[in-house]
Amino acid sequence: MREMDDRIKILSDMIAASSRIVAFTGAGISAESGIPTYRGEGGMWNRYDPNIYVNIDYFMRDPSYYWSLFHDVRYDVLRKARPNAAHAALARLEKRGKLTAVITQNIDGLHQLAGSRNVLELHGSTRKIYCLNCGARYTIDDVHELLKKSNPPPCPNCGGMLRPDVVFFGESLPEDTLARATEESENCDLMLAIGSSLVVYPAAWLPQRAKESGARLAIINRGSTPLDSIADVVISASAGEALNAVVPGGPDS
Ligand code: APR
Repeated sequence: MREMDDRIKILSDMIAASSRIVAFTGAGISAESGIPTYRGEGGMWNRYDPNIYVNIDYFMRDPSYYWSLFHDVRYDVLRKARPNAAHAALARLEKRGKLTAVITQNIDGLHQLAGSRNVLELHGSTRKIYCLNCGARYTIDDVHELLKKSNPPPCPNCGGMLRPDVVFFGESLPEDTLARATEESENCDLMLAIGSSLVVYPAAWLPQRAKESGARLAIINRGSTPLDSIADVVISASAGEALNAVVPGGPDS
């Protein structure tokens, strides 16, 4: 385990020397909160076809498939999910004035629940649902109730079609959020890429932009990623364990 200790020490020293850290997170950071990842062992895409489940053309033709999975599977997972040690460590780092932004691919809202304030949600939030016709906004609890009566759930205000405020496959990322995330990536002195397979674009450009702009790049991920070769340090460990080690002050440190 000596090699792991060495890598933790290297990353701890990098964090100590940095003042403009940006975290870039993926589904792996929420795995310890009970939210399944998309790829790898037990991943969502091993069980559901993303080209049906979260494809905009399919959703607009037949939203009932998305909403039945929401009702049967996702709602309970989201309702029970709480931030874990990794989310808490990033919130601590921001409170200490060391971290300027969390850029996340996740749609679970756990960074905000952990207390992070500057969170850029590249793929939106599954906790936010709105009506395509009148724009009325609803929570996951509202929609879960509506689904008990009918699927797809009609907007209580105007009867229109509801959709989650997430980026479906086939849609582009929110321009303003991507622009802010790009600026943060280009101006940070250390990027922590945590719990992402780093295979989905344009999100996966951001750690590369950070590196090209002169920042150091640290990857914390259980599995290998295509960017490991350009990283300054790669820590193959669980996000909670690694971040607790490099950002002391957590409940069990
Ligand atoms: N700690 C650290 N890493 C973990 C943990 C953990 N506890 N558990 C799993 N991992 C790693 C996995 O090995 C995997 O490499 O997290 C990574 C998660 O990768 P993906 O499931 O591909 O998730 P992500 O990179 O966020 O996917 C990007 O793809 O389908 C789209 O829109 C979806 O935002 C998502 C995007």
